[in-house]
Amino acid sequence: MAIVITGANGKLGSLIMKQLLKKVSADQIIACVRQPEKVEEYMKQGIQVRFCDYDKPETLDQSFAGASKLLLISSSNTDDTIRLRQHAHVIEAAKKATVEHLLFTSFAFPGKGSISPTHLYLATEHAILTTGIPYTFLRNALYTDFVGVLGLDAAIAVGELSVYPGNWKFNTVTRHDLALGIAAVLSESGHENKTYELTAPHYWTFHDLSGSSV
Ligand SMILES: NC(=O)c1ccc[n+]([C@@H]2O[C@H](COP(=O)([O-])OP(=O)(O)OC[C@H]3O[C@@H](n4cnc5c(N)ncnc54)[C@H](OP(=O)(O)O)[C@@H]3O)[C@@H](O)[C@H]2O)c1
Repeated sequence: MAIVITGANGKLGSLIMKQLLKKVSADQIIACVRQPEKVEEYMKQGIQVRFCDYDKPETLDQSFAGASKLLLISSSNTDDTIRLRQHAHVIEAAKKATVEHLLFTSFAFPGKGSISPTHLYLATEHAILTTGIPYTFLRNALYTDFVGVLGLDAAIAVGELSVYPGNWKFNTVTRHDLALGIAAVLSESGHENKTYELTAPHYWTFHDLSGSSV
């Protein structure tokens, strides 16, 4: 079994690699990255490293050759039109390489909520469905560390948290917990043609965050 992982050096990808190594041997894992020189540690561990750039489709056939499972970690490009094209390149290459099982880190609760960039994720899921390749959609909740953008230190200093108006509810999960779940799915048999919402059991609000009873 060869488990190929794109974005394997990113924050989520690195955590998945760490968890996966606890479950399968290094020679079953192939890390696909844009900058192989940055992942010497993987090579030292016996993991095969392949070059992979979503923007260079001609590189991808080689990257995915022999993959029993391919995990596409969604692109970090900030332009969703570009991301859609990048994902399409990966999906097309997966088809050409006759990948047996294509897994994708999608986004939780698509179509609901006001801040989720769900069009891109749903479009990617649909593109995967067109291939007929057995799939697993791993719909990740918002990363918990998004709270970093809220300026909590400053809010604590002045005793006031300024937020956008609205009845905000957040369902967040740490990358560590997502990696545990994704590594489990990757290492086990089954899970084909399933969609998993990798979310917390409860949402939280700004009132919860502030500890306020108001
Ligand atoms: N659920 C959430 O709250 C949330 C929040 C933010 C982002 N996301 C999504 O989740 C993904 C993973 O999160 P993360 O924290 O691990 O992000 P990250 O640390 O930025 O990692 C992104 C990975 O994608 C790779 N990548 C980007 N463009 C590529 C390309 N053209 N070809 C090949 N690889 C490319 C990066 O490679 P390089 O190191 O070479 O750039 C990196 O390995 C993000 O990319 C984004 O789509 C989810």
